[in-house]
Amino acid sequence: MTEASVRLRPVVEDDLAMFRRFLTEPGLIGLDWAGFRDAQAPARRFAADGYLGTEDGRLIVEVDEERAGLVSWHATGPGVAKFWEIGIVLLPEWRGRGIGWRAQAMLCDYLFTHTPAERVQAGTHPENIAEQRSLEKAGFRLEGVLRSVEFRAGQWRDGWLYSRLRHDPSPL
Ligand SMILES: CC(C)(COP(=O)(O)OP(=O)(O)OC[C@H]1O[C@@H](n2cnc3c(N)ncnc32)[C@H](O)[C@@H]1OP(=O)(O)O)[C@@H](O)C(=O)NCCC(=O)NCCS
Repeated sequence: MTEASVRLRPVVEDDLAMFRRFLTEPGLIGLDWAGFRDAQAPARRFAADGYLGTEDGRLIVEVDEERAGLVSWHATGPGVAKFWEIGIVLLPEWRGRGIGWRAQAMLCDYLFTHTPAERVQAGTHPENIAEQRSLEKAGFRLEGVLRSVEFRAGQWRDGWLYSRLRHDPSPL
């Protein structure tokens, strides 16, 4: 896999079927499966702003012009000036091929280029080794453990928080 073959692009209507799959196929999204969700929500959101809002958004991860998954971001933070929290999911057939870290590094560069944010953060699960390595390769650093931060799969669970700051080096 090379940087040249991975690209991020805006959502188009044909992508909505993949979004619906993540909302309705148990476990397809990975550890973030949280039960069935409204399968019509993607069409409504796409009609509203094409998933490019001022407070959050999504881009499609494409590999050699094939749809491999999505990256997302939303504004968060305690202060007046917000920062971004990002997320990613690849379809299972695209995992473990060097796409995830590149896509997350690209999203970070994109957000630092087009917004004045100082910080991009990402949370993951203690057992999600693939995402931990992927974030580290994308230039993120582990900040710490958030205790009992999410209710998932029947119980409250810890999360691991990572960040990349504007002046941290990009691996790309
Ligand atoms: C997590 C995810 C985005 C990672 O992307 P990916 O393309 O599969 O990972 P990459 O190929 O970029 O791998 C990055 C590093 O992780 C390692 N890795 C990948 N999958 C792994 C696995 N299952 N177990 C251990 N290490 C793994 C790779 O070997 C690589 O490290 P290396 O260069 O030292 O060899 C992807 O697997 C995915 O979409 N998973 C389901 C959804 C999910 O968990 N999203 C994150 C929620 S917090």
